[in-house]
Amino acid sequence: MRQISVTEHLQLHQKNTPGATGRFTSLFNELILSAKIIHREVNKAGLVDILGETGDRNVQDEEVQKLDEYANKILIHRMQRCGVLCAMSSEEQADLIQIPRNFPRGDYFLVFDPLDGSSNIDANVSIGTIFSIYRRKHGSGDQVELHDVLQKGSEQVAAGYFLYGSSTVLIFTTGDGVHGFTLDPSVGEFLLSHPDIRTPEQGRIYSVNEAYWHYWDRKTQDSVTVFKDPNSELGRLYSLRYIGSLVSDFHRNLLYGGIFMYPADFRDPKKPHGKLRLLCEAAPLAMLVRQAGGMATDGLNPILDIEPQELHQRTPLFIGSRIDVSKVQEIFATE
Ligand code: AHG
Ligand code: MN
Ligand code: MN
Repeated sequence: MRQISVTEHLQLHQKNTPGATGRFTSLFNELILSAKIIHREVNKAGLVDILGETGDRNVQDEEVQKLDEYANKILIHRMQRCGVLCAMSSEEQADLIQIPRNFPRGDYFLVFDPLDGSSNIDANVSIGTIFSIYRRKHGSGDQVELHDVLQKGSEQVAAGYFLYGSSTVLIFTTGDGVHGFTLDPSVGEFLLSHPDIRTPEQGRIYSVNEAYWHYWDRKTQDSVTVFKDPNSELGRLYSLRYIGSLVSDFHRNLLYGGIFMYPADFRDPKKPHGKLRLLCEAAPLAMLVRQAGGMATDGLNPILDIEPQELHQRTPLFIGSRIDVSKVQEIFATE
C-alpha cells in the first residue's frame, strides 16, 4: 500500500472540506506529537518509576495513575502552544484549561481523556487517548467561559483516539469517513493502514460489565439478556468480550462489529447516569461510530443530540453496530 501520512491525508481531505484550514492540520500534528511522547512512556512504563498510583484522587474521585498524570501534562503542555485553541478540557481537570495570555490562540476547543483504561496500565492491557474537537461557539476574548464552548456531540469538527496496544494506532474522523493510521516506529510516522473504516451492520460480540446486573433497571437487564439468548430476534449466538478499557473494547467492536454497553447503574447515588463521561468519551466515539455506519445512544436519545449541561457530565452508553444498538433502543422504547 502506498505510504500515506496523516498530514498528506488531511491535506487531501482539506481539498474536499470548505473551511478546513492549515490551522486544523497544525492542531492535529501537535496531537500526534503528544501521542508519540505518551506512546514512548507507555511502552517503557515497566522500566521507569511511572507505574502505579500517585495517591491522589481526581475530579472524578478516582485514583490517579502516574501515567494518567504524565499523559495529561504532556497534552496540556503541547496543546497550549499549538496556537489554534481558545481553551481545552481534560477528564483529569475540574475546570476549563485556559490558554495563557502570551500564547498564540485560535477558535478550536479540544476535549480529551488523556489516558483511558488507566486501571489496566500495570497489567499491560491496551490503553488510549480519546480526543474531540469543536469550534468556539460564542465570544472572542482571551478568557473563555463554559457557554462559549459547551456543545452537543453533533457539533464536533473532529474526533478520534490513539490506542497504545500491540501497535500504536490513530483512528479519527473529520466528518468525511473514519480512517486508521498505524505508527511506524522506524520512521516515527503514522501511516494510513485502515482507509474508510465501516463497522459491520450487526456484530457477534457484546461488551458489558455483567457484575453490575443487580444494580441495573429492568430495561437494561432485558437489553443485556437479548445478547445472551441465541434464540432472540437477533438470530445469532454472541460472545462476551470486555477488557475494561473503553478505547480497546470500542476499537475491537468497531472493526469486528458488536455492541459496547456501559449502562446507568445504582451502585453510587452520586453517579446515577453511569461512569462514562459525555464530552471526553461518549461523544467522540459516537461521532466515529456514526461516520462508520454504526449508532450510539444513552438508551433513549442519540448521544450526539445530548445538550451537555456541565463539563464532566456522565451518560449511559450503548454504542456499536446499527442492528445491535437499534435492538437496545427498541427495548428502552417499550412501555
Ligand atoms: P478512565 O481510565 O479514563 O477512567 O476510563 C475507564 C473506563 C473505561 O475505560 C472502561 O470501559 C470503564 O472505565 C471500565 O469500568 P468498570 O471497571 O466499572 O467496568
Ligand atoms: Mn476514560
Ligand atoms: Mn482517563
